[in-house]
Amino acid sequence: MSFEQEAKKNFPKWPIFDDEEVNALAKVIRSGKWWIGAPGVHQGENVWKFQEEFAKFQEAKNCIATFNGTVSIELALLAFGVGLGDEVIVSDYTFVASGSAVIATNAVPIFCDINPETLVMDVGKIESLISEKTKAIVPVHLGGNPVEMDRLMEIAKKNDLMVVEDCAHAHGSRYKGKRMGNWGHAGSFSFQASKVLTGGEGGALITNDDEVADLMYSIGDCGRSKNKYFYDHYIYGTNYRMSEYQGAVLRAQLKKFPAQHKLRNENGKYFMDKLNQIDGIKVMKLTPGTEECGYYVYPIVFEPKKFGGMTKTEFYNKLNDAGIPTDDCYPPLHGLECFKNCHLRKGIDYSNANWGGDKSNDENFPIVTDIYSRSVEFPQEMLLATQEQLDTVVEFIKSLKN
Ligand SMILES: Cc1ncc(COP(=O)(O)O)c(C=O)c1O
Repeated sequence: MSFEQEAKKNFPKWPIFDDEEVNALAKVIRSGKWWIGAPGVHQGENVWKFQEEFAKFQEAKNCIATFNGTVSIELALLAFGVGLGDEVIVSDYTFVASGSAVIATNAVPIFCDINPETLVMDVGKIESLISEKTKAIVPVHLGGNPVEMDRLMEIAKKNDLMVVEDCAHAHGSRYKGKRMGNWGHAGSFSFQASKVLTGGEGGALITNDDEVADLMYSIGDCGRSKNKYFYDHYIYGTNYRMSEYQGAVLRAQLKKFPAQHKLRNENGKYFMDKLNQIDGIKVMKLTPGTEECGYYVYPIVFEPKKFGGMTKTEFYNKLNDAGIPTDDCYPPLHGLECFKNCHLRKGIDYSNANWGGDKSNDENFPIVTDIYSRSVEFPQEMLLATQEQLDTVVEFIKSLKN
């Protein structure tokens, strides 16, 4: 069998599931309890139990489950009073949701360039982006790699800013003794299909502040109050509830997660060391102080000169053609059409933002622009392969230099 056929056959496919997920879903259907209900009017048990189990895993006091990771960022910002007239500082190197969730609250995102080694928000640049309108910061732990949260929280405290960690890639990540999502005032997670913990779709917030947790619950459940009359809608809220189907699958997946997380961390270090030995390849450097990494996506930055002047599209196409799953990284937010055109929400003035029109030009975001032009990523399930398989990836990349 050729290398290509061997590789295609052998790399792990995602999601990984067995009868536990199938039976959990069938049980929900047969029970007739197809939704979470409300406190005092409980229907299904899965979402309530998942909230407890996920909070325990993330070492947080409270978890509020939602239907995806985009609305959970939005929900946290709303709970912290972010809205019209406010600015929120967001990492520029992330999925669009980290920025669009800010737009949904009627606030204005301000994009922050990244650290060229760790590829996450450069905390040293935050203070230059703070204005009298700044209300919050959304650091994104890209690929599970922690933003320097100790430094970031000092800046937040000094400037009276709320912090919502976007942990969509950081399930299980730990920095200087604390799981991500516990550093800020809230942490937001995604359980979308490609994520390391998945229910197909799904999201959650964690927070260690009970009052904030109750408020988040209320905003996400139509303005209801816990354990009060069902039709008592005491504040404005909407329906961000997770479904029982998501909850049931997530509980089964959560049981599998610790072993997968351990393997990803072992393989991540092994793969990093090997890739770093290739002249012309640099992997995302874990932020000093990182003890565990979620490893959702595994970005590598290559030097085109060392690969015969290949473009990154040529680079990742060659890997894919050889059966090695590889993808483009996220296009930086400042250059996305939706931000460039500046007319996102009727009646909102975006003219002071550091993006839009000419300000969205790449030279205004030099680090992320350079990194994006040279980076590709492997999916998280690659790190569930054997070390022999990872060796074949390393050898294949070396062969592209000839
Ligand atoms: C960094 C980041 N934030 C937020 C989200 C949004 O999550 P969801 O797709 O569950 O809405 C994603 C999802 O892909 C993401 O990668």
